[in-house]
Amino acid sequence: MALETKIYKNLDPKEITELGSRLRAGELVAIPTETVYGLGANGLDEVAMSRIYEAKGRPSDNPLILHVPDQASVTPLVKEISPTAKQLMDAFWPGPLTIILPKSDNVPLRATGGLDSVAVRCPAHDVCRVILQAAGVPVAAPSANISGRPSPTTADAVYHDMAGRIEAIADAGPCEVGVESTIVECGDDAVTILRPGGITDAMLRQVVSTVTFDEALSAPDVAPKAPGMKYKHYAPDGAMTTYVGVPKLISEAMIEAMEAIQKEHEELVSQEGKTSIAKPLRFGFLINEEVAQFLDIYLADLTVPFEFVIYGNAADYRGLAHSLYSSLLAFNEAKVTHIFATGVPRQGLGRAIMNRMDKASGYNVVNAVPKRD
Ligand code: TXA
Ligand code: MG
Repeated sequence: MALETKIYKNLDPKEITELGSRLRAGELVAIPTETVYGLGANGLDEVAMSRIYEAKGRPSDNPLILHVPDQASVTPLVKEISPTAKQLMDAFWPGPLTIILPKSDNVPLRATGGLDSVAVRCPAHDVCRVILQAAGVPVAAPSANISGRPSPTTADAVYHDMAGRIEAIADAGPCEVGVESTIVECGDDAVTILRPGGITDAMLRQVVSTVTFDEALSAPDVAPKAPGMKYKHYAPDGAMTTYVGVPKLISEAMIEAMEAIQKEHEELVSQEGKTSIAKPLRFGFLINEEVAQFLDIYLADLTVPFEFVIYGNAADYRGLAHSLYSSLLAFNEAKVTHIFATGVPRQGLGRAIMNRMDKASGYNVVNAVPKRD
């Protein structure tokens, strides 16, 4: 039977205490963080964590991140905190950095998908941290979406996927960063990035000498060290193409693709006649200002209905990170059939963004650069 999902909006001390008690008691509570909304459960309670997997339809070998309000709360969860791990916490916590550490016996295997390591993170979000304090237990929280769909960056998006499946949602407005935390494995004065995120390799290099990326991030056939990275993720309902390169050439490539799609659709409809089951076309654009300028005139005459998001200029990585998931979800709502998005160079935050866009578009990335002959 469907649960009643209560939405908390005041988030005053009374509500925070109530949310903390619900978490401690084994209920599922969606919590805001600076990256995306999490689907929280008591990280020491196996039954509560099993309910996370059920609510999301998440594969059971995909381990959870334990969220804590401060460094001190990590101690009982791990065998040891190495000097490098401590330096990372000092430098980046609270913030979007998840650190993999050897787990202690206090952490149930349900949290770690059977691994002997545990992922810990201290979010930079005031409401989140007071909820974690009120809970008084580590809070296991994956992104609060149905597995495989874009992660929610607003409470509305959480409600869309999780209404009737969880007990409560703490609505603290939109998330700032928009893409999930960076996940690192620690060595001695070295880290390996398992998932790129808000804390970039350049930022990590200011603290540890050696920063490498998990090989699997650039080789789709290698098994990733973070089990969750192997699954299909962030997929919108429409077919998505990501374009990178020169704005004018990107706009030309998009126009060419739109014409091919329209032609194919017309042929299908004319073959099938009135009984056609072809879905009506609807386009979605998530693009930068530069490309928008070149597309303007074409779109003024486009007969296919469309949705349009300009996230900022081509160098606005933060704008794109912030708008990515919310735009994909808005396109789902509008029943967009084809998505045209512009990406960014794979550096800094661009690595995290392109990692998500690669997956969202099923690695359908067009490089629109001048042809050399
Ligand atoms: O920003 C975030 O990290 C968000 C918010 C809610 O905090 N959470 C999030 O959780 O993205 P989730 O469950 O969607 O992703 C967790 C990732 C998965 O790829 C999982 O495989 C990896 O963390 N992970 C968890 N524990 C691990 C471990 N012990 N070793 C390697 N990877 C681990
Ligand atoms: Mg996720």
